Amino acid sequence: MPENLLKGKVGIITGALDENSIAWKTALKVKEQGGRFVLTNAPIAMRMGAINELAQECNTIVVPADATSVEDIEKLYAEAKEFLGGNFDFLLHSIGMSPNIRKGRSYGDLNYDWAMKSYDVSAISFHKMMHVAEKMDAMNEWGSIVGLSYIAAQRVYPFYTDMADAKALLESIARGYGYRYGKLKKVRVNTISQSPTKTTAGTGIGGFDSFFNFAEAMSPLGNASADACADYIVTMFSDLTRMVTMQNLFHDGGYSFTGISEEMMDQFKDL
Ligand code: NAI
Repeated sequence: MPENLLKGKVGIITGALDENSIAWKTALKVKEQGGRFVLTNAPIAMRMGAINELAQECNTIVVPADATSVEDIEKLYAEAKEFLGGNFDFLLHSIGMSPNIRKGRSYGDLNYDWAMKSYDVSAISFHKMMHVAEKMDAMNEWGSIVGLSYIAAQRVYPFYTDMADAKALLESIARGYGYRYGKLKKVRVNTISQSPTKTTAGTGIGGFDSFFNFAEAMSPLGNASADACADYIVTMFSDLTRMVTMQNLFHDGGYSFTGISEEMMDQFKDL
């Protein structure tokens, strides 16, 4: 394994809820590669307490912040700058939530107040994090900002309902802000489109097991794990990817470009 890819780099990691979270695995790998960071999550997620154990393991602090609140993000950045001793080299947006999915509403029966909440939490918060970073001039030149997406932004996965629209918006924001931040400060912005992954957010989606197994059977490399995703995020934060920006990067074992696999053909052979 390469060592110290993130030596001297500091940043913020959102979304570590428990040890299955993609953000949790990322925190451990960033630390392993010499990076320092502040952890944050929604105040309501603090109640579970697990994030404090992660903070202890990573010698850092947790600053609660609702990612939909500009005020909370401002406070988060101010406290993080003080703790880390300067501006940030990386930001991870690893946040997703849909009240419609939680409450089992289908795409034709959305509660629009909840849909707005899905878009705000899962996509517009990405814009808010960058907007506040720009306003506070909180990013270092050649910094890297990553959000996490899913292929339902491009193709229909019926059970993904309003999260599909949220992910399409998230990816669009990565392009829009990527252009702006690139010009302003040589900061790059990308989304990583990850395989289905067994986390709280992932397994909360109706039919998760079926599309997890389907993706596994379709992908020549199999589904990408949360650990592998964390490795990819580390490379995106490192200086090895300085010219990659405004991209949606598929991290899915080849799923997105596979038309059909032998395993799937076998399923339909004798119908
Ligand atoms: P997770 O449930 O561990 O993480 C989601 C996080 O969002 C939680 O820590 C939660 O507290 C946080 N969050 C929710 N509302 C918030 C708010 N208002 N302010 C701040 N934080 C808030 O699940 P996972 O899978 O690690 O999710 C991380 C990202 O990866 C999400 O964007 C998700 O959509 C994305 N993703 C997940 C996939 C999967 O199958 N698990 C596949 C592709 C993308």
